[in-house]
Amino acid sequence: MCGIVGYIGDKPAVDILIDGLQRLEYRGYDSAGVAIVNGGLSVEKKQGKVKGLSDTINRAELQGTLGIGHTRWATHGRPNDVNAHPHTNSTGKFAIVHNGIIENFTALKEKLITKGYSFESETDTEVLAHLIDDIQKNTMLPIEEAVRQALTQVVGTYGLAMVSADDPDTLIAARKGSPLIIGVGENEYFLGSDAAPLIEHTRQVVYLNDGEMAVITRGGYQVKSIDNVPLEKEVHELEWDLEQIEKHGYEHFMFKEIMEQPESLENCMRGRISIQDNDVHLGGLIDSLDTLLAADRIIICACGTSWHAALVGEYLIEGLARIPVEVEYASEFRYRNPILREGDVVIVISQSGETADTLAAVHEAKRQGVPVYGVCNVVGSTIARETDAGVYLHAGPEIGVASTKAFSAQVMVLTLIALKLAKGRTLSEAEFATYLNAVVEIPDKIREVLLLDEEIQGLARVYRYASNFLYLGRGFNFPVALEGALKLKEISYIHAEGYPAAEMKHGPIALIDRFMPVVFLAMKDSTYSKVLANIEEVAARQGSAIAITDNGMEIERLCEYVIKIPRTEEFLTPLLAVVPLQLMSYHIAVMRGCNVDQPRNLAKSVTVE
Ligand code: AGP
Ligand code: GLU
Repeated sequence: MCGIVGYIGDKPAVDILIDGLQRLEYRGYDSAGVAIVNGGLSVEKKQGKVKGLSDTINRAELQGTLGIGHTRWATHGRPNDVNAHPHTNSTGKFAIVHNGIIENFTALKEKLITKGYSFESETDTEVLAHLIDDIQKNTMLPIEEAVRQALTQVVGTYGLAMVSADDPDTLIAARKGSPLIIGVGENEYFLGSDAAPLIEHTRQVVYLNDGEMAVITRGGYQVKSIDNVPLEKEVHELEWDLEQIEKHGYEHFMFKEIMEQPESLENCMRGRISIQDNDVHLGGLIDSLDTLLAADRIIICACGTSWHAALVGEYLIEGLARIPVEVEYASEFRYRNPILREGDVVIVISQSGETADTLAAVHEAKRQGVPVYGVCNVVGSTIARETDAGVYLHAGPEIGVASTKAFSAQVMVLTLIALKLAKGRTLSEAEFATYLNAVVEIPDKIREVLLLDEEIQGLARVYRYASNFLYLGRGFNFPVALEGALKLKEISYIHAEGYPAAEMKHGPIALIDRFMPVVFLAMKDSTYSKVLANIEEVAARQGSAIAITDNGMEIERLCEYVIKIPRTEEFLTPLLAVVPLQLMSYHIAVMRGCNVDQPRNLAKSVTVE
């Protein structure tokens, strides 16, 4: 999720590391840190952006030609100096930086504490440092072997880099689920979590695959599998320029973020779903579960896209767990003197965790003495800190102003909350198992939807000059209609409105003529035949109907365009249905020459009223 850089060669490492971190900053900006081997080991780390670190470090004390660096996008523990990477073992002899999540860190930590280890940070990463230390102390193995053995005990994802004062000629790297690239120079080697920090030094790179580790010395590098099998690796030539690398070759962050939804959802689900135990684990809500289960009413407050996710949450929690839910615009909630009673629980949703209105809703709930929980993406954000408990999205940094991967991760977290609340009450073990298996299949189904991109581009080309759009959906997909309309408005400046499909005949139908594209979310669910009737009504008035559907035949007869998405359980359809709408808005905006990542008048996080 965040940035790793490493260097071994004959030049001073510190400047190479700091420059590399600056190039990686788009991947995470909670804190930055470096560790340099210079006879001993020097570690400098600091909360905030790389510039803060760069301005305060004493370069004279950081002379050395071997080192590692990190920019953090926190997942476990607030963004502060102590939680910043690198993390060291207790003697300060070696240092590691890590991207990803160690799922079994609590169990490993408890074991290490009984062995006398003490922990400074709240991170999952620090267990790795002590685990490696423990193995090395007891076995006297070379450090790379201790790292390898430690990694066999780890469940989760990592991109890892490590240096040790005892091995001033070795840089160790390992990868599982979080990318790492070795840059091959002349008598020098670089390490990066992507190619951004390498490109100004070399274009020759070796991509580590999952389950591989590298031992890089001043004279060369060796790659082997975590099972200790030596591997031959091909050297590739980098073709992208720096900007392309940051955007993974995509033209815009928004497109990159749409396309990475399968992975961001996998990260969001990581460690939270156990098919084996037929259960959902939400660490952040463990102590609040009873309160939620006993709630008479859950009130969800949010703004914009997060409010749309909240609406899906209402359908999910009421539908699956049968607990009454109300959804409020945070901006209205804060000012209308809402009535909160004992038995109410407030949940706030915010990608940034900094939205002023949502924060004010937190304060209002607290003022009235009601428990308030957060669903945020940014760890340690104000809302995450001020709520009583909560769940993080783990979707990674969202840079595009139009929210995409945060929306799907919000819906996923709400799905997991709803399932957890329903388990054993409104859902039998068997029903729960069926649903959980369907949840696990979602990332792959989104991969299938993303393959429709070219088809959707064609659709965008046809409708790019429209001045108005209507989006209609029912049930779980009514909020998706709202979200589709918002996406289009935000980035292409086309007027668009979302409605529950059945509301069309109560007014919006007057707008329909042959210049009005109407996007229908028509899933083969309990409301399918009704939506079909609405499509008939549009077709009869010469409106141009576009359907997103998981069904065939009859709908094709009525619509000008049909985008077919895979079938899933009804309550999971928003996660698939929203993707074609994100893609369509994106392509229309690009074709109209709009600034997709920074649309006019909008800010990523609205910290004013
Ligand atoms: C989404 O595309 C918007 N830019 C906006 O509506 C956003 O969702 C809203 O401002 C809430 O932000 P938050 O999730 O960071 O609180
Ligand atoms: N889980 C680690 C942490 O919270 C690493 C997060 C990251 O990928 O930056 O510190």
